Amino acid sequence: MADNKDNTAETTSKVKEEQLPEGVVLRDHVYDGIQEYDQKLPNWWLFTLYIMIVFFIGYWVAYYQFGWIKSDVERLNDAMAVVKAAQKAELEKVVANLDDDALGKMSQDPAMISAGEKTFQTVCFACHGKDLSATMGGAKLPGEPLNDAIWKYGEGKPMGVFNIVMKGSPDVTKGMVAFEGQLGAKGVVEVVAYILSHHEAKADGTAKPKGK
Ligand code: HEC
Repeated sequence: MADNKDNTAETTSKVKEEQLPEGVVLRDHVYDGIQEYDQKLPNWWLFTLYIMIVFFIGYWVAYYQFGWIKSDVERLNDAMAVVKAAQKAELEKVVANLDDDALGKMSQDPAMISAGEKTFQTVCFACHGKDLSATMGGAKLPGEPLNDAIWKYGEGKPMGVFNIVMKGSPDVTKGMVAFEGQLGAKGVVEVVAYILSHHEAKADGTAKPKGK
């Protein structure tokens, strides 16, 4: 340290006062040939600094000490919890009022059918065909035909159809995935109404293709 001081003192000269612009004060100290201004910082600059410090203290107390301000993750989780609770409530409400009769009636409700048709023709047609026959251009698609008299699951009852769409195949790895998560109970009800609109209820409560 002492060496440095000596070196700089020898090799550099101080700026003369006359050479400075008016109002500029220099520090006496020279280091590596550099002399520093000794100016007061502008007030606007200082104020932004002070405001920042005050803000920091307030924020620090509110965020870390009292937890008044929630992080993005916490807010997201809260929002998701609200959505989840609403979905659960909706599901319970829909399912609680649902039976074969109610679903059968919905399959005659044009608003339900057209909402379900939209879903079917975007989500389900790839495996079950645009006309529910599980074929496309003569080729067999992976799904089961939904416009025939044969129901693999749920004994052909409306609630049986609802349950397989909600929960998927008994073995989802080989069959069909569950659509409860993607469509919600309401979406599933609509799409089932659309499927059943191609059927009519027989005396034993099963859905059979219209006119057969
Ligand atoms: C990735 C292809 C695929 C998609 C997409 C798909 N399914 Fe399926 N679906 C299948 C398969 C495969 C089966 C037969 C499952 C089995 O045998 O376990 C099936 C079976 C069904 C059954 C039971 C049929 C019966 O005879 O009991 C219904 C009802 C059904 N799907 C409705 C739907 C609806 C509604 C959608 C759209 C929300 C949909 N599927 C989307 C492949 C699909």
